[in-house]
Amino acid sequence: MIKHPITIAGLLLAMFAVVGVGLVAVTHQATKDQIAENERMALLNSLNALVPASSIDNDIVNDKTVVSDIDKLGTKETTVYFGRKAESPVAAVFTSIAPDGYSGQIKLLVAVLADGSLGGVRVVAHKETPGLGDKIEVEKGDWIHSFQGKSLKDPKPAKWKVKRDGGIFDQFSGATITPRAIVKAVKNTLLYYDENKKSLFLAKKQAPAKEQMAEAAKTESGK
Ligand SMILES: Cc1cc2nc3c(=O)[nH]c(=O)nc-3n(C[C@H](O)[C@H](O)[C@H](O)COP(=O)(O)O)c2cc1C
Repeated sequence: MIKHPITIAGLLLAMFAVVGVGLVAVTHQATKDQIAENERMALLNSLNALVPASSIDNDIVNDKTVVSDIDKLGTKETTVYFGRKAESPVAAVFTSIAPDGYSGQIKLLVAVLADGSLGGVRVVAHKETPGLGDKIEVEKGDWIHSFQGKSLKDPKPAKWKVKRDGGIFDQFSGATITPRAIVKAVKNTLLYYDENKKSLFLAKKQAPAKEQMAEAAKTESGK
């Protein structure tokens, strides 16, 4: 029976299938780890563009918490990354969202330094019109740099608008909605920081809710 050609073919096929599945699993794991590492490095580079690595001595990618203020931060869950030097607060970087872009949500990184001024702002994701609203990208123009060093003291809150609306920030020709949305989201992030700065840097490192639930589920089933 074992020597029958069909049985041999079947066994060989099964062996190849096992080896194949094994190879796929190993490759998948290796790729998954590589992808995770690439994502971590990309995030670290974005954070360090706003909070220079030389100004902190903590692991800013993992020193984070999750806060919730949909009115000020544009979404239910906002991750805040902390930059610290010798345990002292240096900066808080918010993953704020401007909900009212021309084509919907605009995802931001807003770095607020411990003194309440802006370390800088970057656009992480958006669907604004190419050639019109996309000048918010750091690769496509200097406009996003206009936030650096600004605060709720400079300019005064009433001036946190685009020039067309009586404020100090430039709009783009033919495009006001996009810059207007970002100016508002950055101002709101500063307001959130101003109201919560004392507790913010003391916040316990916290994983996003989903992970929390997964962890809770794991502990639950482990009981
Ligand atoms: C096809 C199309 C795409 C547009 N895309 C944008 C955009 O991405 N961002 C933007 O601010 N305005 C965009 N606009 C222009 C806006 O409709 C609006 O006229 C402009 O932002 C001025 O707004 P305001 O009248 O509120 O100042 C677009 C207009 C058209 C027709």
